[in-house]
Amino acid sequence: MDVPLTVADYELAAAERLPPGVWDYIRGGSGEEQTLSANRDAFARHVLRPRFLVDVSEPDLSTVLLGAPLRAPIGVAPVAYHQLAHPEGEVATARAAGEAGQLLVVSVFASRTLEEIAAAAPGPLWLQLYWFRRREVVIGLVRRAEAAGYRALVLTVDTPRVGRRLRDVRRGFAVPPGIVAANLDAAVMARAHEAVDGESALVRHSREQFDPSLGPADLAWLCAQTDLPVLVKGVLTGADAELAMAHGAAGVVVSNHGGRQLDGAVASVDALAEVAAAVGGRGPVLVDGGIRTGTDVLRAVALGASAVLVGRPALWGLAVDGEPGARAVLDILAAELEDAMVLSGRPRLSDVDSSLLATRPG
Ligand SMILES: Cc1cc2nc3c(=O)[nH]c(=O)nc-3n(C[C@H](O)[C@H](O)[C@H](O)COP(=O)(O)O)c2cc1C
Repeated sequence: MDVPLTVADYELAAAERLPPGVWDYIRGGSGEEQTLSANRDAFARHVLRPRFLVDVSEPDLSTVLLGAPLRAPIGVAPVAYHQLAHPEGEVATARAAGEAGQLLVVSVFASRTLEEIAAAAPGPLWLQLYWFRRREVVIGLVRRAEAAGYRALVLTVDTPRVGRRLRDVRRGFAVPPGIVAANLDAAVMARAHEAVDGESALVRHSREQFDPSLGPADLAWLCAQTDLPVLVKGVLTGADAELAMAHGAAGVVVSNHGGRQLDGAVASVDALAEVAAAVGGRGPVLVDGGIRTGTDVLRAVALGASAVLVGRPALWGLAVDGEPGARAVLDILAAELEDAMVLSGRPRLSDVDSSLLATRPG
């Protein structure tokens, strides 16, 4: 292929490079993959209404997120095991995101240590957590994140157990030997990498280790354990946004986990306006799921997002060309967003609101 020009070009190039089991693990959704498709289809229904005769000579994409200045309202979503895509893993992603002036949310299933990632990162880092049954594991990670300079925690609430991802079940997928969850001890990770036919090791592991009783009081407890802001990821309704904010959350991430949890769940971009209204400016509202172009970012901001996160695209960039590949993907999104702001007559993020959008039925 010629030089990749779009995020979609990186996807095609990554598909050629990654082993089939890893490709399926990254690309797949749960069940019939309805939500996976919906995340993309929903964007096309929000058509853009550009304005002209506006001075767009100095477009400004910059923003501040929980005190951290960013060059664009874009970041990398928490995605497990970046070493599946490139041997440098999250260290390469951290350099790429920081150099691009964007955010990296590190997964609790990162394949490099929190400290290695922090030492390499020129930009802001947040740490994502799951609610492990062993609470001391959660608190141990919080303390390490604080010490290493992470600026926020992201508690993922949409995963009381891992969804039924049939591609992984059919392959009996397990993370390949040599790639580990570098921040979790052997007790938490016991049997996590044991491949068994007709079973996803990840599903079995989540049933053993994730605590499905997570409730609002637990969120309040976690917020009380740390001075770091805690965002709640996986919010798809105004009611859950309200609950999260009322129990100490500093903000929310509108997400259906990239279509990997409840199949049939609403596309995240379709849940965004309701959630943003419920949060009502009390904290940042991020969104992820199917964001692949600058005009997708523009639409998300118009629907109330403070910033967007991309999951799979970061791994595609890493798979194609390590750190420069991940950087290129993030730079493409920012450059496309700038084009879209100029061409729609919205030179600043504060100019981007719902007046930019009309809904195409269907
Ligand atoms: C391979 C893969 C691993 C993921 N791992 C995690 C994780 O460890 N924690 C988490 O909160 N979300 C995880 N997610 C979900 C992402 O944070 C994000 O919600 C999703 O990828 C966004 O959709 P997109 O990939 O279409 O951009 C993962 C997604 C993928 C594709």
